[in-house]
Amino acid sequence: MTRKLIAGNWKMNGSLAANVALVQPLLAGVGSTPGCDVAVCAPAPYLAQVQSLLAGAQAIALGAQDVSQHESGAFTGDVSAAMLKDFGVRYAIAGHSERRLHQGETDMQVAAKAKRALAAGITPIVCVGETLREREEGMTEFIVKRQLSAVIHLNGHCISEIVVAYEPVWAIGTGQTATPEQAQAVHAVLRAQLKAATGHAQRVRILYGGSMNAANAAQLLAQPDIDGGLIGGASLKAPDFLQIIAAAA
Ligand code: PGA
Repeated sequence: MTRKLIAGNWKMNGSLAANVALVQPLLAGVGSTPGCDVAVCAPAPYLAQVQSLLAGAQAIALGAQDVSQHESGAFTGDVSAAMLKDFGVRYAIAGHSERRLHQGETDMQVAAKAKRALAAGITPIVCVGETLREREEGMTEFIVKRQLSAVIHLNGHCISEIVVAYEPVWAIGTGQTATPEQAQAVHAVLRAQLKAATGHAQRVRILYGGSMNAANAAQLLAQPDIDGGLIGGASLKAPDFLQIIAAAA
């Protein structure tokens, strides 16, 4: 069985002071050998700060929330995979639904972001997920397969190096979590799709995201194809995030 991964997605939250107040108790609570992999995905301006807060600690890896699809050059505002690598970034979220929605990121762009990350030695956390309307129209499987398929096609055999996050859009920040059965059903679809693309599908971690919290994490993480979590709101509170980590261990 793969080691589970619990990744915090801070989104556009934090400050120099708040980051210290969050990371210090996390480090103390996680200890030196947590029973799962742990990461925090900080806003780009704070990557250097969080890198130094985590310095020396192997227990918590640094993540970014986005990565440019371009290598370098005239792309104002973009942050390249090589720049992230300079600051010790191990994971980069690619194609979060908030970026697909607000920045108009397409499946192809998300696939290109994943490819740039992989080329720089950063593990992309590729997000897929349906809206409430798509679910109600019976489109869930079609949507998540389309989103993942773009990434599979552009990344070929490297696909076994990615992390996938299934995040139903209707569950993000709403307090309305997918039931363990609903989540497992979609994870199984994604696993089958990965199996068709690589002999190493079993080692690709498929995270669930969307209102995962200290109370519901254990049940979700007990599902056979749920290999961890991408945690938004609950990752901003150290005691809650630590309880989720404990549930994954
Ligand atoms: P949430 O966010 O845990 O606050 O629902 C998850 C995410 O968007 O990654």
